[in-house]
Amino acid sequence: MGNSFKDLNKAKANKNDEFYTRLVDIELELKHYKSSFKDKVIFCNCDDPFESNFFKYFALNFNYLGLKKLIATSYATSTIVYKQLSLFDEDKTTHPDTNLKQGYKIEITEVLDLNEDGATDLTDVEYLIKNNNNILTMLKGDGDFRSSECMELLKESDIVVTNPPFSLFRQFIETLTAFSKDFIIIGNTNSLTYKELFPLIKEDKARTGYTNFNTGMFFEIPDYYDKYHHIENGKKIARVASSCWITSLPVSKHNDLLTFYKKYNPEDYIKYDNYDAIDVTVYTDIPCDYNGIMGVPITFIDKLNPEQFELLGVGSGDFAKELGIKKNYRGRTDLAYTIDGKNKCPYGRVLIRKKLHSKEV
Ligand SMILES: C[S@@+](CC[C@H](N)C(=O)[O-])C[C@H]1O[C@@H](n2cnc3c(N)ncnc32)[C@H](O)[C@@H]1O
Repeated sequence: MGNSFKDLNKAKANKNDEFYTRLVDIELELKHYKSSFKDKVIFCNCDDPFESNFFKYFALNFNYLGLKKLIATSYATSTIVYKQLSLFDEDKTTHPDTNLKQGYKIEITEVLDLNEDGATDLTDVEYLIKNNNNILTMLKGDGDFRSSECMELLKESDIVVTNPPFSLFRQFIETLTAFSKDFIIIGNTNSLTYKELFPLIKEDKARTGYTNFNTGMFFEIPDYYDKYHHIENGKKIARVASSCWITSLPVSKHNDLLTFYKKYNPEDYIKYDNYDAIDVTVYTDIPCDYNGIMGVPITFIDKLNPEQFELLGVGSGDFAKELGIKKNYRGRTDLAYTIDGKNKCPYGRVLIRKKLHSKEV
């Protein structure tokens, strides 16, 4: 079996790793962070500069955003990498069929503004590197974001912006946290309760981005994928219902005070059997006059104003143990309640409590 075939199989095994972000979605989210980007070094560390729309977005808007530097690194085993080998000396790379290759990096410090309007419509890598202030070089290794050379680039950067491989999401967050880097990334909504991410959200060091995450997102997928939602500009597009943006940067919607109208009554708000809190099935039903602990759907994290509500923990797993949630009828530390004499567990919950100094609720 040839290496390229092996790699293709590996990529197929990690299907979500090969979901490429559309420029339109990047624009919709990143337009909100303009002031955060000024004079910053942006690092797209899972991004082949020839293919990544993150790279394209920052190259297009380099002057408009006032960036100091843009760095992008490719991952050698990516199935789309090495389509433009003419930019490299042949002997520095391996044959595309073997796929045993190095990654490469591009560093942009100047994008000439031909129209003098703050923007450039030339994102062509070949054009960008004709400028001596921009360099395209081979990496020593495969471009793994955990490699020492990519870590060095991480140290040099201010904000990491990418859609990382979902199979390595936990390690990706750990790496960012270890280096205290700001980030804007795409993740799965389930990842919000991961042990690597949830504490950051709880401490108000991370939050969901601007794009409403209940609508799902569309991604470009490689041609060899059989299942797709539709074709767009000749590319197969898949829909992922559970994707969201996650960032360490301020997001103004999380400052909005939420207003609630329902009043607490013990019939409508069932108490858990194994924890002193009430269950709220839809966040809009949060009772305005209840000061105790409430279990709300995990999606509430997308609405959370940390000035208004304290995020206490997750209703299942190790976080539940930390909160003192007792074992339920199944012998697990998941929230449970009794309805009509039957024991049940609600769908994923986070536990919150109104901050008493908050004016609203
Ligand atoms: C979900 S895709 C997104 C690609 C691009 N960031 C985008 O948004 O279009 C994740 C990318 O990470 C690459 N990748 C997989 N493992 C990696 C690793 N260990 N280090 C860096 N990149 C990796 C994959 O090849 C793939 O191109």
